[in-house]
Amino acid sequence: KLYKSIAIDGPAGAGKSTIAKKIANKLNYTYIDTGAMYRAMGLEFCRLKIDLNDENTIYNTCSNIDIKIQYINGEQQVILNGENVNSLIRTSEAGQMASVISIYKPVRLKLVELQRKLSEEGNVIMDGRDIGTYVLPNADLKIYLTASIFERAKRRWTELLEKGEDIDLKRVESEIEARDNKDMNREIAPLRKAEDAVVVDTSDLTIDEVVEKIISIYTKRI
Ligand code: C5P
Repeated sequence: KLYKSIAIDGPAGAGKSTIAKKIANKLNYTYIDTGAMYRAMGLEFCRLKIDLNDENTIYNTCSNIDIKIQYINGEQQVILNGENVNSLIRTSEAGQMASVISIYKPVRLKLVELQRKLSEEGNVIMDGRDIGTYVLPNADLKIYLTASIFERAKRRWTELLEKGEDIDLKRVESEIEARDNKDMNREIAPLRKAEDAVVVDTSDLTIDEVVEKIISIYTKRI
């Protein structure tokens, strides 16, 4: 194994991407947002109005989708069939759609292959739902990041408001709960704490406190 890797998993709204981005900056690692890949895939399935009852169509659609990752000013961009879809995938709808299509094996296999390949190209911090349990089982550090449902809903809601999406807090909370249930109970690579993951509850910590905590666990280890 040439490069180092940190895996961050956890439910929606725990702060994974914010925390992972900051750690990536501090350690000079590449941040890989795997949720964005599922969101892009969900967008394409939506656009093509794919019949999710038809396994063959799902399989064929996956083989025809081209997903690439690029970085602009250090920000990960998802390129879907040549189109930069970053500005289209951050809505709560795209999150729901991602969670719907992420249960399918061909979808997961395609993205996991891309994710593992990226981890062989440099030191990475990767966040998602199955990074420690499935994508990078030999990661140098695995973190299971979590927070109370109330905190997580509030954070997601604030984030969506800032992006101009006017949505009810209660609705965000129930959407998050539904998405977590779906992610935790799917058949393939469900959201689960890896046995060797360290649990970090972010409910009562600031972003910087979480970042410091994880970096200190990591530097003691490597
Ligand atoms: O993290 P984010 O909210 O962007 O993820 C969107 C959805 O993509 C998740 O709810 C989950 O269904 C799916 N996902 C996944 N495995 C990952 C990352 C995301 O199944 N590694």
